[in-house]
Amino acid sequence: MVKKPWGGRFEGPTDALVEAFTSSIEGDRHIAIDDVEGSLAHARMLQDVGVISTADGEKIAGGLRTIRREIETGTFAWNLALEDVHMNIERRLAALVGDDVAGRLHTARSRNDQVALDVRLFLRRRLRDIVEKLVALEHALIEKAHANIDVIMPGYTHMQRAQPVRLAHHLLAYREMFARDRSRVTDAMKRALVSPLGSGALAGTPHPIDRERVASLLGLGGVTANSMDSVADRDALLEVLSVSAISMIHLSRLSEEIVLFASAEFGFIEIEDAFTTGSSMMPQKKNPDVAELVRGKCGRVVGDLVSLLVTMKGLPMTYNRDMQEDKPPLYDSLDTWAGCLEVTSRMIPAVRFREDRLSNALREGFVTATELADHLVTRGVPFRDAHEVVGRIVGHCVAAKKTLDDLDLEALRRFHPDFGEDALEWIDVQRAVDRRDLIGGPNRARVAAAIDAARQDLEAAFAAGWLTTT
Ligand code: ARG
Repeated sequence: MVKKPWGGRFEGPTDALVEAFTSSIEGDRHIAIDDVEGSLAHARMLQDVGVISTADGEKIAGGLRTIRREIETGTFAWNLALEDVHMNIERRLAALVGDDVAGRLHTARSRNDQVALDVRLFLRRRLRDIVEKLVALEHALIEKAHANIDVIMPGYTHMQRAQPVRLAHHLLAYREMFARDRSRVTDAMKRALVSPLGSGALAGTPHPIDRERVASLLGLGGVTANSMDSVADRDALLEVLSVSAISMIHLSRLSEEIVLFASAEFGFIEIEDAFTTGSSMMPQKKNPDVAELVRGKCGRVVGDLVSLLVTMKGLPMTYNRDMQEDKPPLYDSLDTWAGCLEVTSRMIPAVRFREDRLSNALREGFVTATELADHLVTRGVPFRDAHEVVGRIVGHCVAAKKTLDDLDLEALRRFHPDFGEDALEWIDVQRAVDRRDLIGGPNRARVAAAIDAARQDLEAAFAAGWLTTT
């Protein structure tokens, strides 16, 4: 029978089925290194305040460093009979430094505050990588925008051609979404990166510990304010799962457009062979599977968020074992998100835009109809009247199978006498886009400035370190 941490009270061994059912070992491997970091800080503090002797503190730290090396090199021997990561490390420590010394490490600590700390350290480590991947994706979008700054395309509402925009403007719209996701991560981390250690099982500890010292040893911003909340709360995970779900929704929207635009019906893009796959049956097929899978994996990640929300709903104070179910969705969500960010940022440079198809689409969709109405407005016509007039012009063109380009000034004036000499200039797509010279608009100089600002934002984020990125 394996020695249990709750030892004394129990006479019989745990049923093997119960042992397997309650175990969190599989997932706990993710936080093993964080558990050691937390223990090193806790031991150091116990030693500094005199709760354990310097000799014991040093032995414990030496043992923990050995364990850290074993975890890093993959040689740590997990004992599946030992419920979780905390017990595995504690038993290994006992083997290294003896039961008496190892047994002092858990003074003033419970696995409840221990796991709450471990997950926060895990988030800090893992989200640094996510932020780097978000930056890489933003970079790919910005450079694609820069390379295509003179390409005009139809912008869509209701999936109908609406108004001409710069392709770069369209790409930078996605960059805005991912920049906000990055800002959400760092914002969530400001709340998450405080130490719950010292909260014990729920009611703190009578030992004269120094919670702030542990926090500062771990580079955390402070300590939690309420011992019960510290072990009951999973908000930090919920926030991260929410950001992950939001970001995956952004990725799925981008993916959907890649799928649509790669179809023969749109034909707006071609994806390099390396980022497409074939069909086992249809020899002609070149499928955008990568984008489809990113779109599909979004469902998983949204599910991960919903999973923890439902787990937490209605849980009474404070720690409940239900909460062990917090980590599998967290690992799945972050792994999936990181994978999708990486593959998408690699795929963006492999997408080539077909300018011929984009300009054909511009010719056919009456995308400058609003321009004609705005032209009339500059001539003193109320917008509602101008809208009505141009609506009739479009109706005429549809019936006569014409585009706006087929009309001359005389034809326009038959619909309204106030069309000016320059009316036809208003339906030129290039000019229509550049006339939108306002903050947030698709005018060339504005888009060029947006590209510069985005590049500077990434450089500033890089220089400041990920945590202070806004
Ligand atoms: N494996 C547990 C979890 O992830 C660690 C904390 C267990 N605490 C306890 N009292 N059983 O939630």
